[in-house]
Amino acid sequence: MELLFDEAPSFVRLQFCTVSQAGEKSGLPQREFSGQEGSLALLRESGRVLAWAGLGSDTGLGEDELRRAAGTAARGLVAAGFECICIIAGPYSGFAKAIVEGAIIGAYSFAGYKSGAGSAPRGLGQLSLPGLDAQERLWASEGAALAEAVNRVRDLGNMPPNMLTPAVLASKAEDYVRRTGACLRIWDEYDLAGEGFAGHLAVGGGSANPPRFILLERELDPAFPTVAVVGKAVTFDSGGICIKPGKDLEEMKFDKMGGLAALGLLEAVTLLKVPVNMIVAVCAAENMPGNNACRPSDVITLYGGKTVEIGDTDAEGRLLLAEGLAYVTRRFQPDLTLDIGTLTGAVCVALGMHRAGLFSDDDELAETIFRAGERSGDLCWRLPLGREFSKEMEGRIADLRNIGSSRWGGASKGAAFLEHFKGEGRWAHIDIGGSGMPDTALPHIDAGATGAGVRMLAEALRAMYPQG
Ligand code: BES
Ligand code: MN
Ligand code: ZN
Repeated sequence: MELLFDEAPSFVRLQFCTVSQAGEKSGLPQREFSGQEGSLALLRESGRVLAWAGLGSDTGLGEDELRRAAGTAARGLVAAGFECICIIAGPYSGFAKAIVEGAIIGAYSFAGYKSGAGSAPRGLGQLSLPGLDAQERLWASEGAALAEAVNRVRDLGNMPPNMLTPAVLASKAEDYVRRTGACLRIWDEYDLAGEGFAGHLAVGGGSANPPRFILLERELDPAFPTVAVVGKAVTFDSGGICIKPGKDLEEMKFDKMGGLAALGLLEAVTLLKVPVNMIVAVCAAENMPGNNACRPSDVITLYGGKTVEIGDTDAEGRLLLAEGLAYVTRRFQPDLTLDIGTLTGAVCVALGMHRAGLFSDDDELAETIFRAGERSGDLCWRLPLGREFSKEMEGRIADLRNIGSSRWGGASKGAAFLEHFKGEGRWAHIDIGGSGMPDTALPHIDAGATGAGVRMLAEALRAMYPQG
């Protein structure tokens, strides 16, 4: 995707249209076009295709409305075969970032694997926004950078689990080395055994595709603060021996979205030039019921020395994240440690499909991440930690147990388990079990992987660590 700032006469020319309280439409006077939110009108005028995207009511318009309208319109235009769009931001040029972000994320669809020439869906080739000042151009470029980082995460997320195994995921991390200048180290199953990553080996033990622990380090300046991000990348979660019911299985290729979000965040932070040293740990494994699979009632010693009873082999993500947290906190003593993953179905029950669960013992950090979510439209909501949950995660014959004794508060119990591994610095846990696991297509976003968490956390880090 190429971002331009000139008039581009051969492109479709897209403008926004609002409706006033009195029913007057701005931009396009035609009676046939409602101008309502999500509507799109196309017409040809002296050889040029003109498009209008409805914003609905002209009051209370903000970033989110523009992001959605641009997304819906770009999705519609690309589906209709237009690959080059010129957006006239007009009075909304202050929202250039949101418009560009919305358009690039909205225009995305997964290329897929259909054979036959020309069967792959076309995407957005060029996007131009004429009439922006220097500051607005900068915002637009940031929006493009973030959106493309998100779309790369979606591309990996939409790959099927036979094609994106933990080892293949590790090789994809190489692309991020090129894009971010980070150094990469990969632990294979033998390294994991040698260094005591029993959680990774337990989760991945039942699969013919062995686990990987993937570490990227981007050190800019030793004087900068260190931020570590640990992501859950279960390339397929069958549940293991505690196998999931059939209808739940197909979406479990998206159980890798946390690890991918961590990679996307590294790219976003690089592009936005956030002054931090960044560590990304991707905990990759496939949870399958093979003859070397872990069993309910197994006891393992996680990296770092804590013992855990496996009460349920389907509560695998916390075993991976616990080891990732233990490793990065011990080795790097980060100032801030974040972990992210599709940890629980319970978080969807609590918050639905459009907000991540946010957990932290640090009110200020939680507030910063929450506000970054509201600004970016990549949303979250804080849920509780606390003694009542921690108590339930204590083991009977080991230090901890990976499930609680009751059915309730599952997202908080997952978080309370991880809290034991958070180290000394500030910490937050983000459960994208709802927002990272796609449901169906939205008007402004295609079905499939969403890339949830990337923009929210990039905005949060930018707010916490402003440039010079
Ligand atoms: N990957 C799942 C969580 C999940 C399930 C996310 C459905 C989105 C949709 C996770 O590994 C899991 O299976 N969690 C269990 C935990 C339970 C066994 C304590 C869950 O949520 O049921
Ligand atoms: Mn599971
Ligand atoms: Zn899982």
